[in-house]
Amino acid sequence: MTIRTAVIPAAGLGTRFLPATKSIPKELMPILDKPMLQYVVEEAAEAGIERVIIVTARGKESIAAYFQPHEHLEHHLLETGATDLAGKVRAASDLAEVSFVIQEQPLGLGHAVLTAEEAVDGEGFAVILPDDIFDASPGVLSQLLIVQQEHGGGVVSVEQVPWEVVNNYGVVEADAVAEDVHRIRSLVEKPAREDAPSNLAIAGRYILPPEIFDCLKRTPPGAKGEIQLTDGMAILLEDTDVFACEFQGTRYDGGTPLGLLRASLGFGLVREDTRDSVKALLGSFTIE
Ligand code: UTP
Repeated sequence: MTIRTAVIPAAGLGTRFLPATKSIPKELMPILDKPMLQYVVEEAAEAGIERVIIVTARGKESIAAYFQPHEHLEHHLLETGATDLAGKVRAASDLAEVSFVIQEQPLGLGHAVLTAEEAVDGEGFAVILPDDIFDASPGVLSQLLIVQQEHGGGVVSVEQVPWEVVNNYGVVEADAVAEDVHRIRSLVEKPAREDAPSNLAIAGRYILPPEIFDCLKRTPPGAKGEIQLTDGMAILLEDTDVFACEFQGTRYDGGTPLGLLRASLGFGLVREDTRDSVKALLGSFTIE
C-alpha cells in the first residue's frame, strides 16, 4: 500500500474555543506564528504525501484562503525588504497539492473522513487531526509509515496516558509485536476508567486502507449522533490487521485553550529564535 494522500478533518465546531471559533476556525489558531493546519501539512509533506484533502465546513472559508497564494501581500513584503516574511507567506501555499471537500453537518470525525471518500479515490490514505500537534523528528506520520511498510494493514499512533484521563480518548487493547508496535485486538471510544482495556490512547494520526469507508457506512452513530472513526475501525478489525505505534516525540493537544498555550510554550522553548525570550517570559511571572 503506497500512501500518497492525507485527509485532514477540519469541519468541527471547535466549541471548546468559543467564542473565538465563532469566526476563526480552530484549525487556523496559531502555535507561536504558525497555524496548526500548517504544522500538519508540513508533517504530511515530510512523510512524502503528495495530495492533501481538507474536510471543511460552510463558514470556514478562511481555511481555503490560507492555502491560496497572496500576491498582493507578498509583493508588499518584498518591496519593503521583508524577504523572510514573503518566503513564509509563499511557503504556506506551496506545501502540497491541497483540495477541499465540504462536510455539510458536523456529524463526527468518522463522518468527516467518509465525506472524503470520492476524493481519496480507492487508495490507502492517512488521516491527520489538525488539533493534535507533535514535536517529533522524524514526524509521527513518517514513523507510522515505517510501521505500515513493515507490518502492512492499518496503523494508528498511540501514547500511554494517565489512567484518570482515558475517558477522553479512543483506547486500544493490543498485543506487543515489536518494540513500540502492538497488534490491536479491540478499540473503544472514551471508555469509563474501569472499562478501559489499557491506557494506550489514540493520538491523531492514522493510516487506513480504503475498506474503512465501507466500515464507516456500517457504523451506527454513537453518543450525540456522531459517527466515530474509532467505531469504524472496530469494524475494520474484523477483516484487517491494525497496528498501534507508540510514537517518539511530544504531543500537544491543540483542541483546548490551555493545550494550545502549552504548545506555544513548548515550541517556544525549543525554537532557537524564541527560546531565550520564552525563558525570560516564564521567569517574569510570580507564581503564588
Ligand atoms: P474535535 O472533536 O477535536 O473537534 O475533532 P471539534 O468537534 O471541532 O471540537 P469541540 O469538541 O467542539 O471543541 C477533531 C478534528 O476533527 C474535525 C475537527 O475539525 C477537528 O479538526 N471534525 C470533528 C470534523 O471535521 N467534523 C466533525 O463532525 C467533527
